[in-house]
Amino acid sequence: MLLKKLDFNRLVRANILKLTPYSSARGEFKGSASVFLDANENPFDSGYNRYPDPLQLTLKDKISALWHVPVPSVFLGNGSDEPIDLLVRLFCEPGLDHIIITPPTYGMYRVAADIAGVEVKEINLRADFQLPVKDILEQANEHSKILFLCSPNNPTGNLLNKEDIIQIIHLFPGIVVLDEAYTDFAENTSFLPELSNFPNLVILQTFSKAWGLAAIRLGMAFASMEIIDLLNKIKSPYNLNILTIDFVLRQLDFLKEKNDSVDILIKERHLLIEHFKSFTFINKVNRSDANFILIQVDDADGLYQFLVSKGIIVRNRSNMPLCEGGLRITVGTTLENNNLLASMSEWASLKSLS
Ligand SMILES: Cc1ncc(COP(=O)(O)O)c(C=O)c1O
Repeated sequence: MLLKKLDFNRLVRANILKLTPYSSARGEFKGSASVFLDANENPFDSGYNRYPDPLQLTLKDKISALWHVPVPSVFLGNGSDEPIDLLVRLFCEPGLDHIIITPPTYGMYRVAADIAGVEVKEINLRADFQLPVKDILEQANEHSKILFLCSPNNPTGNLLNKEDIIQIIHLFPGIVVLDEAYTDFAENTSFLPELSNFPNLVILQTFSKAWGLAAIRLGMAFASMEIIDLLNKIKSPYNLNILTIDFVLRQLDFLKEKNDSVDILIKERHLLIEHFKSFTFINKVNRSDANFILIQVDDADGLYQFLVSKGIIVRNRSNMPLCEGGLRITVGTTLENNNLLASMSEWASLKSLS
């Protein structure tokens, strides 16, 4: 198969191609030295008085080895929300270009575009929550700079069909961003091993879900070296702080523990799904390849408020397209899940009385 060559002159905003990026003191000097009088830092050692590595190379080395992706194909950001925002600003000219999203899906793609003043075209998923491949390809044009796909998809929980994604990557005229935030909860479905076959593909992953590190804010974008170079060109110079970098360097030694916790959550997900199926007030329990389940009920607002009154917060997604009566429920600990099920049983009794 011939690799499609990306036309960066067409795809990337002209002002970004022309941009002279900020050159930070720590980015400019390469080599070793013992006296650093170049960055207006405080010389007294607090452990944190020096700026961190702008390109986070030590951390990228370790991620590269574990994820089997070369360092130049890795971008690290303040959550995956940072690369989402940067990608929109890199490729989309406000007032001219647009992004395509496939609702119901993760909300930040639209927010990033709205902030940048970039139009958003919505092409809903099919009723089975799969991609309307033909519609997407028919509606795309040279101003469709980015298509955001999310697999497993938030809030529906399902994986998108692999063949559909491949067909779209081949035929879409712009960049396809595949958000794999929940990939650890699905089986061997990541596109990462195939990254080098698709020059217009950007894959997003995050430490916020399976790794249990939402608070430290670390997201990853994987793509061709050319795209990663452009992201590095427009990011703020020291976008990751040293606390996050050092902490993750240590956490990466706990891969087994991460995988064990994923296994537990997948077991809990199966248990929750079985219990949900026994409640007659739940009309639909959707398949999940993630760490949450989308259920559809008659009275989503009523059940949501009832659970709030019990101190249990779930996500009311009933206003999203195709999600009528939808509540998105994150898989918790056994104790948390049992609390939820007990409250749901109470709700079921109340409903059967009324
Ligand atoms: C699909 C998807 N992508 C990205 C994110 C955000 O990830 P991060 O915490 O790395 O910004 C979320 C968070 O809920 C998500 O659902």
